[in-house]
Amino acid sequence: MSRPVHGGNLLWAADLAGCSPNHILDFSASINPLGPPQSAIAAIQAHLDTLTAYPDPSYSALCQGLSDIHQLPLDWFLPGNGSAELLTWACRDLARCAWTGVLTPAFADYRRALSAFQGQIRSFPLDVQRPWGLSLNDRMNRVLTRVGQAIDSAQCGLLLNTPHNPTGQLLDRKQVEKFLEQFALVVVDEAFIDFLPSEAQESLIARVQEFPNLVILRSLTKFYSLPGLRLGYAIGHPDRLKKWQKWRDPWSVNSLAIAAGLAVLQDHTFQCQTWNWLPPSRDQLWTGLAELPGFYPWPSAANFLLVATDYSVPGLQMALLQRHQILIRDCLSFPELGAQYFRVAVRSYADNQRLLLALADCLPERVN
Ligand SMILES: Cc1ncc(COP(=O)(O)O)c(C=O)c1O
Repeated sequence: MSRPVHGGNLLWAADLAGCSPNHILDFSASINPLGPPQSAIAAIQAHLDTLTAYPDPSYSALCQGLSDIHQLPLDWFLPGNGSAELLTWACRDLARCAWTGVLTPAFADYRRALSAFQGQIRSFPLDVQRPWGLSLNDRMNRVLTRVGQAIDSAQCGLLLNTPHNPTGQLLDRKQVEKFLEQFALVVVDEAFIDFLPSEAQESLIARVQEFPNLVILRSLTKFYSLPGLRLGYAIGHPDRLKKWQKWRDPWSVNSLAIAAGLAVLQDHTFQCQTWNWLPPSRDQLWTGLAELPGFYPWPSAANFLLVATDYSVPGLQMALLQRHQILIRDCLSFPELGAQYFRVAVRSYADNQRLLLALADCLPERVN
């Protein structure tokens, strides 16, 4: 089996660890360990009888739920089969631009989706190398300044991600807002933004009605721990979303995903539990990693940490799998990062502790 380019490939990990996929403790996919919420399971069970009918292709019930939450008219929403599906259509639009700016390292699907439509990618590298005199946030702001200076045609596109995968940095909304005046199309992937309470999110949603060249992508799979169900949504100008709907299969989102989505969006108890769980658990993991010799975690606003290390990560990853059945996300698929970085999801206190002990146990594998 070849090395996966995304996190969460438990079959690959189990094969290497010599155990069943159920026994792998997965730090590689950044999924909320508190979920899925009971409200999602109950909604799925209650809607099993809807399987005999095609879903409503206008997804009006789910759009109404989204409209109530985000205070925008119904037709500004398009549900998708995960935000990855909507990224494909966003990239079909972006591919018409002279080039599309992407901050790198970046989520691998941006390249996949832009390449599918022969889109030209222009990389804006974020320097994540040590020594770390300048904070990652300042480095991010510098890259964003470079992006603004790079415009050389009225037809440039931008594909941004906040909080940014794999660094966990939140983009400064004021800086992104400037791009709306400059770029022909700005797509902002907010797949992990729900992990911040609304007052801290710096989301661009409030500007979407003013800027027809702005599209926001949201995912319900990370926060609500439903990656197997596939559900996300786009927020953008109705004309653009109608066009995407014509391009695609009319029933990309299944009935059970709609039912679960409607339930979890109203599950304030689960949302508050997650907002209460994340900051102390992330601090615990960050501090534990920083205390280990040869590990240098970056601060993060998201539910994952990017860690630079003096170790060779493929060796460390293998030792963790074989000795402890723990999977971390190597960064080999991010060409700018390579073999001395890894990413870990924030999990429960006990799981985080298990990872920290396992890493300490694998220190003899150190190569530098
Ligand atoms: C930054 C980012 N955006 C989008 C996605 C796709 O999420 P989904 O299709 O499950 O909504 C991912 C998945 O890992 C991601 O990391």
